[in-house]
Amino acid sequence: MKTALNSLRRVGVIAAAAAAAGVLLYAGTAPAQQPGKIKIGLMLPYTGTFAALGTSITNAFKLAIDENGGKLGGREIEYFTVDDESDPAKAPDNANKLIKRDQVDVLVGTVHSGVALAMSKVARDNNTLLVIPNAGADEITGPLCAANVFRTSFSNSQMGIAMGRVMAEQKKKTAVTLTWKYAAGDESVGGFKETFEAGGGKVIKELSLPFPQVEFQSYLTEIAALKPDVVYVFFAGGGAVKFVKDYAAAGLNKTIPLVGAGFLTDGTLEAQGDTAQGLLTTLHYGDGLDNPKNKAFRAAYAKAFKTEPDVYAVQGYDAAQLLIVGMNAVKGDTTKRAELVKAMEGAKLDSPRGPLALNKGHNPIHNIYLRKVEGKENKVIGVAVKDLTDPPRGCKL
Ligand code: PHB
Repeated sequence: MKTALNSLRRVGVIAAAAAAAGVLLYAGTAPAQQPGKIKIGLMLPYTGTFAALGTSITNAFKLAIDENGGKLGGREIEYFTVDDESDPAKAPDNANKLIKRDQVDVLVGTVHSGVALAMSKVARDNNTLLVIPNAGADEITGPLCAANVFRTSFSNSQMGIAMGRVMAEQKKKTAVTLTWKYAAGDESVGGFKETFEAGGGKVIKELSLPFPQVEFQSYLTEIAALKPDVVYVFFAGGGAVKFVKDYAAAGLNKTIPLVGAGFLTDGTLEAQGDTAQGLLTTLHYGDGLDNPKNKAFRAAYAKAFKTEPDVYAVQGYDAAQLLIVGMNAVKGDTTKRAELVKAMEGAKLDSPRGPLALNKGHNPIHNIYLRKVEGKENKVIGVAVKDLTDPPRGCKL
């Protein structure tokens, strides 16, 4: 009995030693490809005024991955999802949970610029790869640019710059602006003011309300009294739906032209119905863009999700397309960060918006279209700015 126990113990010791040796052996001969799944952290809004935007991005991101065989660089994917509630105060904790607890390889998010600013700081501090599929905070791809931070959407000032030019060309003399008071709205309005005034117009009043408030009545009363030639706004999601309806309910759509960054009418037309008809907006996408990729994308999205895609879906799709290029270049080996980043920097994506490349700060270079709402469509009626690219704004990459 005693000897039997001893020999059992011996077996245990040998097994433990073999296991340790095995670990050493494994560590010493790393496989050609990292084992296991690539972990993707989706940090997006799934509740609140931007909920639909988060869902569109998620749907289309997964669609592009599915079209790629469900893999990135040959590796299966595991998703970790956090509802960021478009709340900047919760952003550092949410991003840290994905990085530290879930150990994601890549962060994808988000919609709200304030949340994205906090998220990109966490990504920079941890050197985690981040792909932003919406939030346009100019700084992120400007002075705060980083090798590990990419954006497949736009920067906030771009839409304003484009619409300011168009309104100046239309010889509008006075404008009132209205937006939620945070980076996205401020930068969108800033872009509009810059080009509108350079073209001879004057912004006579800049109005704003806190995000995500939607009590617009007092602002509409003020606009009616000011009687500008045009009103430029930045609103999106549920807030955009309500603003366009309230503008029409106040009768202002009959007297003062309303224009905006294209988010005002994107993914919202079903809910806005007649109240949105004829609105002019500027955006890097339009439903009917006549290119093969857009047609294929729209058909695949509608088939998979039984609803029409919007600009947010395009941006989510392109976030996955960009990662596919990067991960293919390193065959899914995320430790080859420099090679991965280089491949993403040089990516030439076939986006539903048209050909897509990134500038030095990792922000899209793309056309900004002038669109007009006709029925349930944001119809492209012209190119407001061709191949718009941001100035470096102090980006040192
Ligand atoms: C932003 O906060 O950057 C933002 C949010 C919603 C949009 C566009 C930009 O539709």
